[in-house]
Amino acid sequence: MIYSFITIFVLLLAFGGVLLRGAPYVPTLEKQALAALELLDLKPGQTLLELGSGDGKVLVLAARVGLNVVGVELNPFLVVVSWLRTRRYRKQVRVIWGDFWRVDWPECDGVFTFLLDRFMGKLDARMQQVKKPLVSFAFKVPGRKPDAQKMGVYYYKY
Ligand SMILES: C[S@@+](CC[C@H](N)C(=O)[O-])C[C@H]1O[C@@H](n2cnc3c(N)ncnc32)[C@H](O)[C@@H]1O
Repeated sequence: MIYSFITIFVLLLAFGGVLLRGAPYVPTLEKQALAALELLDLKPGQTLLELGSGDGKVLVLAARVGLNVVGVELNPFLVVVSWLRTRRYRKQVRVIWGDFWRVDWPECDGVFTFLLDRFMGKLDARMQQVKKPLVSFAFKVPGRKPDAQKMGVYYYKY
């Protein structure tokens, strides 16, 4: 009985606790993820950074088209799932367990994220330092007009 409570507590902490730092786990559909990659138009060998990389779906899609990709994910269960899911692309994919507001961002050529409205202003401030293109699924950057958009994915040049 006590083990069930502990398990539920740990899962709630992992999946619910992220709400303080970003969006909860809701995976992007494949067609939106592909739209994001198309908007970014990175070339093989370039690097995509995914903020909150969830179950690794976007990491796999990016690796399949020859990109190097770094995912930062706070939920340790999802880090394990995405690490396993991307094992075929070990040379191209890196998953960092951490809070993307706190870890140093690696050098990258573009950023993908699926956050929440209330974090988009903070992300904007960070992107102004990074100065790389951003694609955001579902949520727009406040006060900025997207340079392009497709299927609910917004592209910003920075
Ligand atoms: C809406 S889901 C999107 C998952 C994935 N990017 C996708 O598009 O399928 C947001 C993800 O970000 C993670 N997350 C939220 N806040 C975070 C933070 N501060 N640092 C790292 N990961 C975070 C959540 O655990 C969740 O997996």
